[in-house]
Amino acid sequence: MYVAILGFGVVGSGVAEVLEKNAASIKENSNVELKLKKILDIRDFENNPFEKYMTKNFEEILNDDEISVVVETMGGINPAYDFVSKCLEKGKHVVTSNKELVAKKGFELLSVAREKGVNFMFEASVGGGIPIIRPISRCLAGNKIYEIAGILNGTTNFILNKMIVDKMSFPDALKLAQDNGYAEKDPTADIEGHDACRKICILASLAFGSHVYPDGVYTEGITKITLDDVQSAGEMGYVIKLLARTKLLDSGKINIMVSPALVSKDSMLAGVNGVYNACLVRGDMTGDVLMYGKGAGKLATASAVVGDIIDCASNSEKRKFFGWGQEKKDFVADYKEASTALFIRAKAADKAAVHKIALEAFGASNILWSDGEVAFITEEGKEKELLSKLEKSNLETLSVIRVTDY
Ligand code: HSE
Repeated sequence: MYVAILGFGVVGSGVAEVLEKNAASIKENSNVELKLKKILDIRDFENNPFEKYMTKNFEEILNDDEISVVVETMGGINPAYDFVSKCLEKGKHVVTSNKELVAKKGFELLSVAREKGVNFMFEASVGGGIPIIRPISRCLAGNKIYEIAGILNGTTNFILNKMIVDKMSFPDALKLAQDNGYAEKDPTADIEGHDACRKICILASLAFGSHVYPDGVYTEGITKITLDDVQSAGEMGYVIKLLARTKLLDSGKINIMVSPALVSKDSMLAGVNGVYNACLVRGDMTGDVLMYGKGAGKLATASAVVGDIIDCASNSEKRKFFGWGQEKKDFVADYKEASTALFIRAKAADKAAVHKIALEAFGASNILWSDGEVAFITEEGKEKELLSKLEKSNLETLSVIRVTDY
């Protein structure tokens, strides 16, 4: 079966490498022969082992009837959406690692794939090399999944880990993540939480059956997290993680958000360090299932893409029945109505007065004093009520971070 790759960046070149290096074992294990035929990229790649496959003309791929699987690893919406739509329309299977494309256009593309009887697959779009999409859509299909919480962005997990363990500053840790090739071209998508948001939207859509679009999801990144936050949380027995989470409510709506959160050091999620990702899925039959592994990086992500190509090749005559329906109105509940505890750090010039507020207004536990500052954890309450109390108190707040019980 002939394969083409759109975009010869980090993941695209990794896919070419995996296809070439593991051709024999893929054939032996899966009984499919995958042959790379074309690679589309507008850049020149002289003296590259894959130079002979390069083209700058998309039509050459679209109109080549021998190519039945197209891999999209360009990233972004334009021109990826146009190219992917055209390939599906032409009856080609498409495999992508592009989370922005799936999160924003997944419903449309799945509909075209369904109409044309081909596969649109995106295992690599969430969790890099960790199998997450297939386990949720197939292995856990006997469950009613009611909650998912994940560390879904390797770059921010790497940065927070460097801050926690090495007391490295945020800019130094970001630079190191970029040097290692983990961060997106524009690191804003990582550090402001947009990348994790796209991924949790894909998982929520898959688990709950209706497309959840990123622009309806409350998203907060890690740029405001300081070394003082990390240290105080640590002394209280917590680590700070960027969590992407979603939960099915009794009302039929869902909570979904991305934000930094305190996670107990005893939690399975607390031990997820460096560029590693983890995804905790709660099913009514299985209880908690944790998937863990490399969430970013060239070959790990390429491995997930190649897994999808093999699946397309082995099931080329059969369309995969997975995906989701269109967006449901008012499906996403107001996040401020959700119940949570908050970690609050504040100035504490008048220790006695601050202590009184912490105890009486917030039922505080874990109170920590240091150099004219206090940090404590509130009792659980509706987020909007806790924030309103905080506004009315005279506390000079330095940080507010949600606390989870995963
Ligand atoms: N920049 C992303 C991350 C790459 O750090 O997780 C994988 O999606």
